[in-house]
Amino acid sequence: MPTDNSNPTAAAQPELNRRSFVKTAAVVTAAAAAVTTGPLVKRAKAAGEKVQYGFIGPGSRGGRLLERHLQHIPTGECVAICDIYQPNLDKAMDIFRGKPDGTPPKPYTDYNALLADPNVEAVFITVPLFMHYPIMKAALEAGKHVFCEKSLVFTPAEVHGLRALHEEHPDQVIQVGLQRRYSEFYHAAKKLIDDGAIGKITHVQAQWHRNGNWRRTATPEMEEQINWRMYRQYSGGLCAELMSHQVDVADWFIGSRPQSVMGVGGIDYWKDGRTVFDNVQLIFEYPGGEKLQYSSITTNRHVQGRRGPGDGCRELILGTDGAIEISLIPNGDGMLYLDRMPLHMGDDEQGGETWTAGATVASDTMEQGEGLAIIPNEVDAESGEVGFIAKEVEYAKRWMYRKGILSPTAAVHEEYKELESFLDCVLTGAKPNSDIEVGLQDSVAVMLSNLAMDQERKIYFSEIEAMGLDGVQMTQARSGAPDADD
Ligand SMILES: NC(=O)c1ccc[n+]([C@@H]2O[C@H](COP(=O)([O-])OP(=O)(O)OC[C@H]3O[C@@H](n4cnc5c(N)ncnc54)[C@H](O)[C@@H]3O)[C@@H](O)[C@H]2O)c1
Repeated sequence: MPTDNSNPTAAAQPELNRRSFVKTAAVVTAAAAAVTTGPLVKRAKAAGEKVQYGFIGPGSRGGRLLERHLQHIPTGECVAICDIYQPNLDKAMDIFRGKPDGTPPKPYTDYNALLADPNVEAVFITVPLFMHYPIMKAALEAGKHVFCEKSLVFTPAEVHGLRALHEEHPDQVIQVGLQRRYSEFYHAAKKLIDDGAIGKITHVQAQWHRNGNWRRTATPEMEEQINWRMYRQYSGGLCAELMSHQVDVADWFIGSRPQSVMGVGGIDYWKDGRTVFDNVQLIFEYPGGEKLQYSSITTNRHVQGRRGPGDGCRELILGTDGAIEISLIPNGDGMLYLDRMPLHMGDDEQGGETWTAGATVASDTMEQGEGLAIIPNEVDAESGEVGFIAKEVEYAKRWMYRKGILSPTAAVHEEYKELESFLDCVLTGAKPNSDIEVGLQDSVAVMLSNLAMDQERKIYFSEIEAMGLDGVQMTQARSGAPDADD
């Protein structure tokens, strides 16, 4: 079992892809020289102009983003695609083959060569976690704007490194793929919370429970390349792949960042050679005393009260006057449950209906434990108000939702929105919702959670500042840690 997940980029990537790496070595050298002087950052394009982007790593996630969303977003044009794995490169190229409009993107097998392409202004990076930072660094140094999937970076040294790079390249956009920050449901829930619908948040409980081994089919030769998320040298395991989304929601909704984390994890069921935990249980403390209880398991996907099938994924926000349960899986879905403290029972709000963004709180008619669907409101663009007709429609929708006739859906998919928004930020210079600080904070939570479980101690978030500066290693084998082949 590896005991060190400091980024093994230099060694592991050639190791992983030795054949393609050797084949393209000459190109790499030439391209690396070329990318050190990047093009100037372009901004403020004329109306109708598109951002020309390159796409690096169109595997499972990247292929989905390209195929389902990006190719349809009019403010961008894919001019280059890079993947070291030929079948994935071919699949991504196929998306654009035969399209009547525009020239097809140029295929690359080396990201440095793509970054040397002067037509590329921005890049989407959806490679395995351990390669995020080296590719982001090369992209920023080549003058490109960067969208990178979560979890943004892998090691403490990369936290400091990316911050420094951002300071050196302040005009280049950096956005992380935390799509809940672009979801209408999550924004409606956040608005309800800000409007006081559930009182003061004291606890968040979040879980992502699955029932399965989390493996992809791979030959022994390709095992680590395909199943990289199973191995600590490349992956932060369940914390990076799943928890990262949900700790970000807790941070966003609570409005601050954790100050400590403790937890327990293990390889307790899937003893199949993996070196990342197959179950994790964590408790985070926030400065205001709020707690986030987190659980991710791979042996049962039940969620209490979940209406449809799907992963056992949700965040439950508990406040003094109610709770909000919210999830994007399988589709956007939010419920508000009132649980007023007795001392609030005589308040004016009681006995009437309060219209707030996201839900109508009919507190006198709601029974204890009864839920009210959170449905993103259509707000009039000019007045910012919810119009009379829109309200009526919302009432009707809610009735149908309660009866199970209708499921609420977002008008615009949050992934489409995050990608469109990134392109807008490139065009206008606006700051992304999921910006570098959101991404780094999220990555720190991932790293420190794994460290807390490995070292079996409470870790303070302030410790990150001293890590990674002098080669401090991220993880150490905890005594008695299960070996992969136990
Ligand atoms: N936001 C989300 O909801 C979400 C969901 C799934 C995955 N992700 C993230 O997306 C990233 C990719 O995950 P995935 O499941 O698509 O993995 P994947 O293995 O399916 O895809 C990664 C792709 O990157 C390619 N690649 C690896 N090294 C490369 C290099 N040096 N240059 C070019 N291409 C390279 C691989 O060949 C592969 O095609 C991860 O960081 C993951 O956490 C995010």
